[in-house]
Amino acid sequence: MPGTVTDQLVQQRSTHPRRNVLLGLVLLVDYREHGRTFLNQRANAGRSELLGLQIILGKVRSFTSPGRGPSTGSDHCSDHALLVCQDPTLSERFFKEVLDFYPTERVQPELESEQCMATWLSAGQKIHDIAILGGPVQGKLHHFAFQLEDWSKVLRAADIISMDDISLDIGPTRHGITRGETIYFFDPAGNRNEVFAGGYRAYPDRPCVVWTPDQLAKGIFYHDRVLNEAFTTVWT
Ligand SMILES: [Fe+2]
Repeated sequence: MPGTVTDQLVQQRSTHPRRNVLLGLVLLVDYREHGRTFLNQRANAGRSELLGLQIILGKVRSFTSPGRGPSTGSDHCSDHALLVCQDPTLSERFFKEVLDFYPTERVQPELESEQCMATWLSAGQKIHDIAILGGPVQGKLHHFAFQLEDWSKVLRAADIISMDDISLDIGPTRHGITRGETIYFFDPAGNRNEVFAGGYRAYPDRPCVVWTPDQLAKGIFYHDRVLNEAFTTVWT
């Protein structure tokens, strides 16, 4: 596909045959790793795998500056999901009383309130395993997130998102809530995906952090302090 990393690779000049084999293997490993992480790359995955095999077999000219380095393999597990419902207080109670989660951060109508407009819940020591956002619809997915190692990996994900012209929602940036580093993007089916790193360690006896609606935008996007329209209206 013109303009893709693969296209750039095949247009660059040849190098030593032994290096070609190594680079072909790198390309195959890259496909195996990123093909699992970024769903919309699957459309190009078969071609990338074929190209890697062709380079190893000496049937295609190799390249001098790969667009992607090999993955560490440590950045591909799921982290959390954010669900949308009409009664987040009730859903929070379900996760607390039935599934033994505890809230780490909440958005409440006021500082002293049993009600919540959104809640972030953990079942262990991650800052959240599931989050719930109040909205006009029931049982919708706002996004699910992949865990990355650190901020540098989030920036690397941003590079890949740009290289492959993936539909970007927002980021890279930081959350006030959870303090995590983030990028939101859409897969070809329209589901919002997130890559997420950081966030502080949670404990059940740590006081829950409370946000009020006037600080919600800062809580979601700590740097911009503005909620983009898609973030509050697009769910699947
Ligand atoms: Fe998230």
